[in-house]
Amino acid sequence: MRALPTLEHRLVTVRGVRLRDAKAMEKALGDNRAWLSPWEATTPLIRPDSFDQKSSIRGLLQAAKQGSALPMVLMHDHELVGQLNVSQITYGSLSSATLGYWVVEKVAGRGITPVAVALATDYLFFEKGLHRMEVCIRPENTSSLRVVEKLGFRYEGFRRRYIHIDGKWADHFCFALVVEEVPSGVLTRYEKGAVPSGVATIPELDWVKARNPLSLPPR
Ligand SMILES: CC(C)(COP(=O)(O)OP(=O)(O)OC[C@H]1O[C@@H](n2cnc3c(N)ncnc32)[C@H](O)[C@@H]1OP(=O)(O)O)[C@@H](O)C(=O)NCCC(=O)NCCS
Repeated sequence: MRALPTLEHRLVTVRGVRLRDAKAMEKALGDNRAWLSPWEATTPLIRPDSFDQKSSIRGLLQAAKQGSALPMVLMHDHELVGQLNVSQITYGSLSSATLGYWVVEKVAGRGITPVAVALATDYLFFEKGLHRMEVCIRPENTSSLRVVEKLGFRYEGFRRRYIHIDGKWADHFCFALVVEEVPSGVLTRYEKGAVPSGVATIPELDWVKARNPLSLPPR
């Protein structure tokens, strides 16, 4: 992924992250610590404060250069209000990727994230030829579960201790879309109100699993 795109919508502009976003990113993350930290991906054995935003952005840009990531920021009223990162982009017989996102608390509830996810997914499906997009969400994250429900991501399953979040391995519900499900695009389907209902529904058995975490010693 050489040049990062700019994807425009009246609600949000989704554009490639730049090194000079470091200050705005630091401020957004700092001002929204309590809002974001329960959902923030962490790295085992590394303290979250032990890297600065510039080196974090450098890492993202390096991954983008290698073609394995699409690191984007969300701009609303000329202000950086969130981040959308597509990672683990693989081509060939898998042609799949995984997507994560956040917005600052003051813009939550305006439908910015569903539009941003739709724009990025459409870009990767129709401009870059990806076949599948995945989003994995902690069972407690009702707001994020609404995002995939609104967009009609299909529930795929429950993964135990799948991603390291806020300092510990956390169970996740995973959802995906393949391009054949959205021939007219994710955004068009969403904006037309044509998202099929029920595809993101989590079976009761998986809720039972989520409510009963594995009792293993922490690591
Ligand atoms: C999850 C998140 C990205 C959703 O973004 P968003 O732009 O607010 O998305 P939406 O506007 O579509 O709102 C989604 C749901 O959030 C809930 N919501 C709305 N306003 C809210 C607020 N002020 N506070 C908390 N939740 C709110 C509602 O249930 C809403 O669904 P609804 O539109 O059917 O009422 C955002 O809440 C966030 O950044 N949370 C913290 C980080 C995070 O959870 N990242 C995702 C990890 S998987």
